[in-house]
Amino acid sequence: MPNHSETKTPRETVTVTDNSSGRSVEFPLLSGSVGPKVMDIRPLYNELGIFTYDPGYTSTGSCKSAITYIDGDQGVLLHRGYAIEDLAEHCDFLEVAHLILNGELPNPTQKARFNDEITHHSMLNEQINFFFRGFRRDAHPMAVMCGVVGAMAAFYHDSTNVHDPRQRMIAGERLIAKMPTVTAWAYKYSMGQPFMYPKNSLGYSENFLHMMFATPCDDYEVNPVLARAMDRILILHADHEQNASTSTVRLAGSSGANPFACIAAGIASLWGPAHGGANEAVLQMLREIGSKDRIPEFIARAKDKNDSFRLMGFGHRVYKNYDPRAKIMQRTCYEVLEELGIHNDPLLSLAIELERIALNDDYFVERKLFPNVDFYSGIIFSAMGIPTQMFTSLFALARTVGWIAQWNEMLTDADQKIGRPRQLYTGEKPRPFRPLADRA
Ligand code: ACO
Repeated sequence: MPNHSETKTPRETVTVTDNSSGRSVEFPLLSGSVGPKVMDIRPLYNELGIFTYDPGYTSTGSCKSAITYIDGDQGVLLHRGYAIEDLAEHCDFLEVAHLILNGELPNPTQKARFNDEITHHSMLNEQINFFFRGFRRDAHPMAVMCGVVGAMAAFYHDSTNVHDPRQRMIAGERLIAKMPTVTAWAYKYSMGQPFMYPKNSLGYSENFLHMMFATPCDDYEVNPVLARAMDRILILHADHEQNASTSTVRLAGSSGANPFACIAAGIASLWGPAHGGANEAVLQMLREIGSKDRIPEFIARAKDKNDSFRLMGFGHRVYKNYDPRAKIMQRTCYEVLEELGIHNDPLLSLAIELERIALNDDYFVERKLFPNVDFYSGIIFSAMGIPTQMFTSLFALARTVGWIAQWNEMLTDADQKIGRPRQLYTGEKPRPFRPLADRA
């Protein structure tokens, strides 16, 4: 096994010694603007003829990025240097989208231009309408979104050249603008209701709520408190550095695949219950628990290694402290329930009690398992009248901003190469071929 030891030289390095051959090689230590140092192991295979083994990438950085910073021990989340608490409190979603995409919060002129661009790209090519109709009515909305977003490459040919910065920008704006329409139409289709077209007089979240809940038969007034809550939820989900779906988008994009295909890949990855699918799973879990007296039974199941049950909405690969998004989400949850006149919501009080018990249980304390962003979001969505199956689609809608920014950053990085991990091969060694007649 390699022996790791740090040497003190002006250029900080880490020396790796392969004890089997006695060869030592120094690898540079890179420093980001904040956060731990990073060992640059790119020459490792050429120098020592060995690979690293790191399933789940627990100690592997796959890229450089200037978009989002997380300090998981302190529970800190920054986008382009701004704290998530400040952004959620003072910005609307499109301002945060501008920040994540371009590196700076927009000034009033930039804000007006960006809002205008997004607003005027929100309609879908009318032919996509028929694409939706090919799905069964009971299709999961995430399946519909994977299909429709991937198919957009067939509708918007003029923004698929990934080497043209202008086409990349147009593709990004199209995706961010059309995602609420795709999401709302996936819902409308499942309900058997007519698709509602976007309304340019409305803001991003207002328009989304309008397309979800309006019908051609009735006037629909968007509740400003709910629109603000939706905007804040979108902000909280906009980006989260190199998570599974973002890494999927980067990996898909590293081959030069078009942006619509890459975002469809991100949606597919997000769908899993260990990632974005957790918000749907939390609500299912709370309903299954049903009453406070059954919490100990489920806590015991979550701790039992022979039971695959996990406390959904709890734990995170990076946060070993309270997820800062979960705190804001909890506050938003109270605001929405208050606005809707829902007092003593049974699911909310069950969630609060579950959180209290888990945070005082040695198993969760020792493993630093805290509520994550998904723990409270489902309760808010549910109170707003959004069905459980739609929850992960809302996450995808918001995360599209981060996916686009990260994909764009990757394509403009001079170090960018096609993503191609190595492996620790455990299969058969070379062996002689046996003709069919000789195989028992
Ligand atoms: N319930 C019970 N035990 C848990 C949970 C949980 N939710 N999460 C982690 N653990 C335990 C593991 O069993 C493990 O215990 P051990 O050390 O005794 O073997 C330990 O805590 C560490 O867990 P890992 O699975 O190794 O941590 P990892 O970083 O790989 O997983 C994950 C992170 C997938 C988020 C995990 O915590 C989980 O499954 N949580 C529930 C699903 C969820 O809420 N996902 C949303 C994540 S946030 C997002 O994507 C938006």
